[in-house]
Amino acid sequence: MSVTYNESARSFKLTAKDTCYVLQVVSEGYLAHTYFGKALPDDDLTYLLRLDENPFTPETNDRDRASFMDTLPFEYPTYGLGDYREHAFAIRDKNGAAACDLRYKSHRIYDGKPALDGLPATFTNTPDEAQTLEIVMEDKPAGLEVTLIYTAFTDLDVITRSAVVKNVGGDDVKLTRVYSACVEFDTEKLDMITLWGSWARERVIERSPLHHGKQSVDSMRGESSHQNNPFTALCEHKADEDSGECFGFNFVYSGNFISQAEVTQHKKTRYVMGINSADFEWLLEPGEVFTAPEVVMVHSDSGLGKMSRTFHDLYRNNLIRGEWKDKRRPILINNWEATYFNFTAEKIYQIAEQASKLGIEMMVLDDGWFGHRDSDNSSLGDWFVYEKKMEGGLKALVDRVNALGMKFGLWFEPEMVSPDSELYRAHPDWAIQVKGRPLTLCREQYVLDYSRKEVRDYVYGMMRKILDSANIEYIKWDMNRQLTEVASNALPENRQRELWHRYVLGVYDLMNRLTTDYPHILLENCSGGGARFDAGMLYYSPQIWCSDDTDAIERLKIQHGTSMCYPCSAMGAHVSDCPNHSVGRSTPFETRGHVAMVGTFGYELDVTRISQEDRDAIPAQIAEFNKYNTLVRTGDHYRIGNMFEDNLWDAWMFVSKDRSEALFEFVQVIGRANERSRRIKLKGLDPEAYYFEESKPEVKLSGAALMECGINVGGLWGDYKSKILHFVRV
Ligand code: GLA
Repeated sequence: MSVTYNESARSFKLTAKDTCYVLQVVSEGYLAHTYFGKALPDDDLTYLLRLDENPFTPETNDRDRASFMDTLPFEYPTYGLGDYREHAFAIRDKNGAAACDLRYKSHRIYDGKPALDGLPATFTNTPDEAQTLEIVMEDKPAGLEVTLIYTAFTDLDVITRSAVVKNVGGDDVKLTRVYSACVEFDTEKLDMITLWGSWARERVIERSPLHHGKQSVDSMRGESSHQNNPFTALCEHKADEDSGECFGFNFVYSGNFISQAEVTQHKKTRYVMGINSADFEWLLEPGEVFTAPEVVMVHSDSGLGKMSRTFHDLYRNNLIRGEWKDKRRPILINNWEATYFNFTAEKIYQIAEQASKLGIEMMVLDDGWFGHRDSDNSSLGDWFVYEKKMEGGLKALVDRVNALGMKFGLWFEPEMVSPDSELYRAHPDWAIQVKGRPLTLCREQYVLDYSRKEVRDYVYGMMRKILDSANIEYIKWDMNRQLTEVASNALPENRQRELWHRYVLGVYDLMNRLTTDYPHILLENCSGGGARFDAGMLYYSPQIWCSDDTDAIERLKIQHGTSMCYPCSAMGAHVSDCPNHSVGRSTPFETRGHVAMVGTFGYELDVTRISQEDRDAIPAQIAEFNKYNTLVRTGDHYRIGNMFEDNLWDAWMFVSKDRSEALFEFVQVIGRANERSRRIKLKGLDPEAYYFEESKPEVKLSGAALMECGINVGGLWGDYKSKILHFVRV
C-alpha cells in the first residue's frame, strides 16, 4: 500500500518507492507536516512535531495559541491567525477580512490518480501505479472546504500535490492565494538550486545556501518565462550529482508562479510553490470550485542525477501523452534560420527536395506564411495563406513535399495579434488591454484575451481551416511576448484579477482541443525559444523548442540546465549553420550533430547553400542519430561534465534501462597543448558486467573498472571537437 492511515497517531504515510512523506492531524484538527525523506518503517513519528515542548498545543495551554500557530510545521498554512511564516492560502471573506483557518474534516484513500479540471497533470497508466490521499479541510466561518490531494507513485520517488477549494457556504469569498504545496524541513542547512535565464540563455543553474528570511524565484510575466523556470531543488550542502539528499519541486503550470524557501526563527525551512499571488484574486461564489495546479515533488537519496532521472521517468511515462509519446520523432528541417521571412513556396520546396535526398523526413515552414507577413510587424491573427509568397497555395506545396516522401509541418502563434491585421481591425477589444490606456507593444504584437471562448473559437476556426486544407503533420506553437496591461473587456470588475490564470486555462483549453481533434499531429511548443519549457506544456506537446540559441557550445549549458527536471527526449534541438546566428561561433558539423542528438534532432539551415562537405555528412549523421535514438529516448541520462563549473569540456551518458549498452558523449570545448588525456569515470553501468567499446571489441573491461577507474579520453585536436563512444555489454 502506498498510502496508510494510522488511527491512533492520526497520521498518514505516503510511500513512493524508497521515499516516504508523513503528515498528521494534531490538536483541534490542525494538519502538521511530520516527515519527508527516505522510506521508514511504520514508527509513530509524532515526537518530531515537538508537541511536548513549549508552546504546547492549544488544548494543553490555550494562552499561547498564537505562539503555537507560529511554530507548528503546518501542512497547508493559512493567513491571519498567528502563523507569521509564509502562508499557502488566504481569502477575503464577505466582510473583507483575511483571516482563515483550515481544520481536518475527513479523508479518503484510493488507487490511481485524479485528473485536475482544465489543468495538465501527471497521470497513472494503470491504477496500480499510484495511490491517492485526499484530505478535506474546512473553514466553517468562511464556508470553505479545501481538499488537499496527494498521490504517491509506487515505483518512483515521486509525490504530487494539488488543492481544490470549494465554496460550501452561502456567501461569496475571494481567494487571494491558493498555493499548491508547502513543505516544512526541520533544518536550515540546505542549498537552493534554481534555473534562471534570459532569451537565448535559458535555464542557468544557480545554487546558494539558504539564509534566514525568504528567497524565491518567480514569474509575473503570464508564462513560466525565460527568466526563471518553475523548478527548485533543495539539497544538503554536500549533495552533488551522485550523492547527498535532494528534494526537487516542479510546477505543472505555464503561467505566473512562485517558488520560495523561508528560513524561520527556529532554523527550519518552509518551502512553498504555487500560482503567484501577486495580482491574483479569484471570486468563488457559493457552489463554485477552484483548482490549484499540481506540484511534483521528487526525493533523491543519491544526488541531483538521480533526482533528474526520476523526473525524466515520470514525465516520459506519466505526463507526456499522445501518439508520439514513445515514438522516434521525424527528423525535421526548419526554414527559420535558413530564410527568416524571406522565402517563397518554391524556395521551401527546394530546401525540402535537397533535404529529402539526404534522409531528412519532415519540412517545417516557420513564421511568415500567412496574412501579408514579410517581417514581424504584421498579420498575427490572420491565419490564412499569404498568396504572394505561397504561390499556388499551401496545399500545392504540401502535396509536392509529400511527393518527395517527406512530411510537412507548420508554425502558428495562436495567442497573438498584430495591430496590422484583419483580426485586430475587426476586434480591437479582443486584445488584452486596460481601457483608456495605450497598449504596450512587444515584438510589434499584442496578446489575445484567451479567457474569452469566442476569441479562442475564432482563432481555432482559422487554424482548423488551414489544418484541414492540407496534410499537415506537425505544428510549432509559438508564443513570443509576455503580458502587460492585464485586463479583459469581457470580465466584470470583481473578476478582473482572474485574467492571468484564466488566460493560461484558455491556452490549455485550445491545446486540448487541438490535440484531441488532431491526434496524429506532432505538437512542438515554443516561446521565443524556451520561455515555456515547463511541465504544463509537456502534457500537451511531447517536445518543446529548447532555445533560440542553436550554437552547439551554448547548448551544452542550456541542455544541461534543462535536464535538471525535463527529459532530453523532449528538448527541441537542431543542427544549424555556422557562423552561428546567435553567437557568431563556428563549430564542426559533427559536434553540432552530437549535441543536437541529445534532443529531438533536426536541421535548421538552408541545406541548398551549406558546404558540400557538410551536406555530404548529413546521411551519416542521420544514421548515427537513428542508431542511438532509442537509447536517448528511453535510457537513463547521466551528467558527467558541468560547463557551469568547468567550461573546458563536457560529457554525458545515456544508459539503457537494462544496462546492456551505453552511449558516452564528450565535447572538448577548448583544446590545450601538452595535456594528457582526461580520465573520466563512467556512470550507470552494471559493475559486475563486462563491456567493450564498439570500435575496440577486443578490449573488455568490467563496469566496475569503467566506473571506478574511468576511461582515458583524448586525441582530439582543436576547439569544439566531440567524440562519442558506444559501450556494449559482453
Ligand atoms: C520565435 C521562435 C523561433 C522562430 C521565431 C519566428 O523566436 O523561438 O524559433 O519560430 O519565433 O518568428
